[in-house]
Amino acid sequence: MKILNKEVLTQFQNVKVTKIEVLAPLIASKAKPGQFIVLMVVEKGERIPLTVVDKDLEKGSITLIVQEVGLTTKLLGKLKKGDDLYALVGPLGNATEIKQYGKVILVGGGVGIAEIYPVAKALKDAGNHVVVILGARTKKLLILDEELKKIADKVYITTDDGSYGQKGFTTDILKNLLKDSKFDLVYAVGPIPMMSKVSGVTKEESIKTIVSLNALMVDATGMCGGCRVSVGNETKFTCVDGPEFDAHLVNWNELGKRVNVYNDKEKHICRLYKL
Ligand code: FAD
Ligand code: FES
Ligand code: MG
Repeated sequence: MKILNKEVLTQFQNVKVTKIEVLAPLIASKAKPGQFIVLMVVEKGERIPLTVVDKDLEKGSITLIVQEVGLTTKLLGKLKKGDDLYALVGPLGNATEIKQYGKVILVGGGVGIAEIYPVAKALKDAGNHVVVILGARTKKLLILDEELKKIADKVYITTDDGSYGQKGFTTDILKNLLKDSKFDLVYAVGPIPMMSKVSGVTKEESIKTIVSLNALMVDATGMCGGCRVSVGNETKFTCVDGPEFDAHLVNWNELGKRVNVYNDKEKHICRLYKL
């Protein structure tokens, strides 16, 4: 569980995104696109889920890309090359169903771009025509655009402030693409408002849409119920039933409320730790 490499991908305003390569040969040998790990930085710390973005079977390593948003991701950001994680478990969750769909669109927003990267690679390898739409607040916060350009048939970029690509939102491009051509699958990962808007657009066009949900997780093995989400008329546990679900069936309002439920306490702890 040693950190083999660490690289800051972007640091701008209050956002820092870091790529971390961790020695984990058993996880590397099993992990598939769409799956995640859960790690603990310190013994008395919390567990947090992070997507397995890449793996290197020769080195026995996995790559994680993490945006520092609160206590645990900031503590993780302080670890250096050569340091050990306290605990790491995985791979967890169901892998993405990779097959030949035909023409697919992957939509990634913010650090969600890291999560669509392995799926884009696998879908391309499976013979799909892969179109990628990336969204970031501003150019300096965009990650993996060069890497995705090497994989995808076409990459569209949007920034909220127009500093790179088209000014606006990923859904603006998505709507235009769906007007002009027929697509067989849309796969989206990013902030909840983005995923819910993508879902609204594709529902109108009746296009199968998969989202990977960032529900709050505690044990991540189906025991605590912390990650429950409402999908259709059923309660699902994101960690063992997901993390991917049919976007058109997700109760977005409920998910949006649940992910912010501990925010005040988390901010208080960050202040105590002076982070
Ligand atoms: P906090 O201040 O505790 O929380 C900030 C926000 O992060 C919360 O509002 C909540 O939305 C979310 N969060 C907090 N604790 C958890 C938790 N235990 N489980 C899930 N979400 C939580 N982030 C990345 O940067 N890169 C990834 O590849 C990535 N992959 C993920 C894959 C899955 C399946 C899930 C569920 C989440 C993923 N996340 C990823 C989100 C990441 O887990 C949270 O950003 C992290 O847990 C925040 O912890 P914190 O203590 O730093 O921040
Ligand atoms: Fe506990 Fe999913 S995190 S059931
Ligand atoms: Mg936390």
